Amino acid sequence: MNKYLLILAVDTSCDDTSAAVLRGDTVLSNIIASQTELHRPYGGVFPTVAKQAHKENIEPTVKTALKRASIALGNKTKLTINNIDALAVTVGPGLAPALEVGLNFMKDLAIKSQKPLIAINHIEGHALSALAQRNHSLKKNDTLDTKNSRQLEKLIESNKKKISDNSNNTNINYPVLSIVVSGGHTEFILFNKIGEYQILGSSIDDAAGECLDKIGRMLNLGYPAGPIMEKFAHLGNPKAIDFPLPMTTTKSFDMSFSGLKTFSRNYIEDHFGDTSLNQQQTYDFCASAQYGVFRHIMYKLSKVLEKYDVAEIWLGGGVAANVNLRKMIRETIKNTGKKVSNSDTKNPKLSKQKAKIIFRTPFTKRLCMDNAAMIGLVASYKFERKEFVSDLEELERSPRLI
Ligand code: KG4
Ligand code: ZN
Repeated sequence: MNKYLLILAVDTSCDDTSAAVLRGDTVLSNIIASQTELHRPYGGVFPTVAKQAHKENIEPTVKTALKRASIALGNKTKLTINNIDALAVTVGPGLAPALEVGLNFMKDLAIKSQKPLIAINHIEGHALSALAQRNHSLKKNDTLDTKNSRQLEKLIESNKKKISDNSNNTNINYPVLSIVVSGGHTEFILFNKIGEYQILGSSIDDAAGECLDKIGRMLNLGYPAGPIMEKFAHLGNPKAIDFPLPMTTTKSFDMSFSGLKTFSRNYIEDHFGDTSLNQQQTYDFCASAQYGVFRHIMYKLSKVLEKYDVAEIWLGGGVAANVNLRKMIRETIKNTGKKVSNSDTKNPKLSKQKAKIIFRTPFTKRLCMDNAAMIGLVASYKFERKEFVSDLEELERSPRLI
């Protein structure tokens, strides 16, 4: 991958308008205009509200992404569309009215700027998000106080030095198993090459994040419930309620979460009826439900690892932000008898040790949730393969990964 390549990417697949600029695999900016507050009263994403908000947010979001990237690069002149090498946009899967806003905006921009456009699958974005690199000097560029000019100058200078010896093309060991756990998808994706994927298994009904959100709704946790459930789970006992382990009699790597949702509803009805759970009961329920959902994923993951000798495991998607999920994956890897390593450092001591699996996670929570940086990351690989949209007029939504 060309590490100096500048990509401007946009994602409007669901309820967040996001724009990002990447330089090779390094994230220079990753702006997310969240609509969570708008959808909260509905307890889920309301498509027409999402479409309207995307329309209002897209232009300012793109402008902010370019502005923040200029600061990150330390350029005296402002980064404009003319400096960008290629544009990237999510074409699916997602909400049709929401996707169309991003698609139309980027088609227009491609025509006006005469820049190549790259069509990206949202799940591929989550699947590769762990590869995105931090722009070391400006880690906190999202909250940077641009009025503090001395601080800014200092950061820009140190950033320039880092950029001049930028050597961050990740060395990937194959086969890779990417686990995508989000509000819309739960998938095991195996590959020996970026761009050529085999889906080993996926949820046949609700996604894991969706299941956590629905159980959270029964407990009145608010929307989205996943992150709140994680907080409450830390205060509860994961063994308090014995959730069933689904799909143990089938050999497939597919998963099913709707039974866990039904179990929750029945349990609450049977044990609490019309009375609401007290605080500790809520914590215990959250801990047990979260454990139940992750235990199911771990059961299937251990079966995948029995069959396939993978060199790396990558985690992506909103639920990937969950510390407990990451911990359980590390334990599952260890149970295979292999060592877990967080990087591919060519440390001779490490390579002499017993077989290991490299476990990569996105470097920040912003890369777990829906965001455009992961879309730009995939685009930088597709740019190498010259996978550009050949006919902009013909470009449509497309939900398929393979
Ligand atoms: O990837 P994402 O932002 O959107 C989709 O593509 O679906 O994922 C959103 C999902 C929601 O279900 C949300 O509850 C869940 O990710 N989530 C979490 C956490 N943060 C977000 N679930 C568990 N623990 C978290 N910390
Ligand atoms: Zn997503």
